[in-house]
Amino acid sequence: MKDSTFITRVVLKNYKSIAACDVRLGSLTFLVGRNGSGKSNFLDALRFVADALNSSLGHAIRDRGGINDVCRRSRGHPNHFSIRLEFVVLPEGFTGHYAFQIRKRPPGGYEVQTEECSVQNKSCLTSEAYFRVESGTVTDTSVEVAPAVAPDRLYLVNASGLPEFRSVYDAFSRMGFYNFNLDKIRGFKDLDPADILMEDGSNLTSILAQLTQLSPAVKTDIEEYLALVVPDIREVDVKAFGSKQILAFRQKVGEDRYPGRFLTNNMSDGTLRALGILVALFQGGNEQQRRVSLVGIEEPEIALHPAAAGVLLDALRDAAHRTQVIVTTHSPDLLEDKHIDVESILAVETDDGNTVIAPVDEVGRSVLHDRLFTVGELLRVDQLRPDPNQTPLANREKTKQLDLFDSNKKEY
Ligand SMILES: Nc1ncnc2c1ncn2[C@@H]1O[C@H](COP(=O)(O)OP(=O)(O)OP(=O)(O)O)[C@@H](O)[C@H]1O
Ligand SMILES: [Mg+2]
Repeated sequence: MKDSTFITRVVLKNYKSIAACDVRLGSLTFLVGRNGSGKSNFLDALRFVADALNSSLGHAIRDRGGINDVCRRSRGHPNHFSIRLEFVVLPEGFTGHYAFQIRKRPPGGYEVQTEECSVQNKSCLTSEAYFRVESGTVTDTSVEVAPAVAPDRLYLVNASGLPEFRSVYDAFSRMGFYNFNLDKIRGFKDLDPADILMEDGSNLTSILAQLTQLSPAVKTDIEEYLALVVPDIREVDVKAFGSKQILAFRQKVGEDRYPGRFLTNNMSDGTLRALGILVALFQGGNEQQRRVSLVGIEEPEIALHPAAAGVLLDALRDAAHRTQVIVTTHSPDLLEDKHIDVESILAVETDDGNTVIAPVDEVGRSVLHDRLFTVGELLRVDQLRPDPNQTPLANREKTKQLDLFDSNKKEY
């Protein structure tokens, strides 16, 4: 089976609490660590890229409270933050990287100091599309007629008009990040033409209606998973009332032969959350053009009974065959399975206010290798620690040499 991994490596510098991070990702990743360690900040850096491309850089920064809240606060007063993402764009298999550094411009302003994108076509290694922009000027590009630059905007948005950068732009803008708000899921909803589930789940009804029509088999899979989490649920459908829509569940009631119908307002928090997670994971259905490149979910275990953790893990694994999945979790039950690959865990810790993110350390690895404990058991006793040898912070000198941009390393 094809690997669904879209983002293969994440390098961050001065993003919120993360001074420096350089990690590799696979198709399914679990971020674990104590409260306030920086798990959500890591996920937020990826969400930042999607937001900045879908709306605008200014919007993404304002939405997070301004440049001073996005840039790491520390004694050294860093005046910039940087994100580098290495990727494989499916189904074409284009590989490359996208990186930018945003610099503060007083008072409260910002500019794109450097932005770089390079895309290689695997089947034809000689062809490479690239651009590099520095403070409002295209300094290098493979493109004959380069679109204009604005120093306060990401150039990839403009470059997406060119066929060589289109699929990269689409893949970055089709990442979905979820932190559900059940009040936004409940009730009657207007039809939403968007084909990606919103972060708070507010267009869940529309997305499920689209799935029912376009990929009925996937919708049935969702119902089957849901029935394993909430045993009496039989079906979930979207009912239209004039221009409004609402989720309607069929649920077994007492000895009645026919399951009763319940609207969202009557459904339990756990049921709605489980449905939200399942729709987030499988929202692309079988339609290539609806494919979501990456799904990030904050603590999917919230409001679920521990006995449902195995079902949740199965659903995450199943979805990770088609879409890259990253979850933050505090649930030992979710990680109880003996076959969880230690490579899929990223341990997150704070060191003097700095977030450290890395694969599990040697001690944890050897315990897991010898099957002395499960990942879940190690999480329960707080023994999933980032490997100090695999973090850029291990060596302060190295922090300065994070590989953010390729242009310094090679001549185009
Ligand atoms: N600009 C910034 N500079 C430095 N630290 C920051 C910045 N923005 C946020 N933080 C710190 O990041 C921490 C929160 O990190 P985050 O929300 O990622 O934690 P978490 O691991 O998701 O925790 P939880 O498990 O409780 O959700 C806070 O301690 C906050 O002070
Ligand atoms: Mg969090």
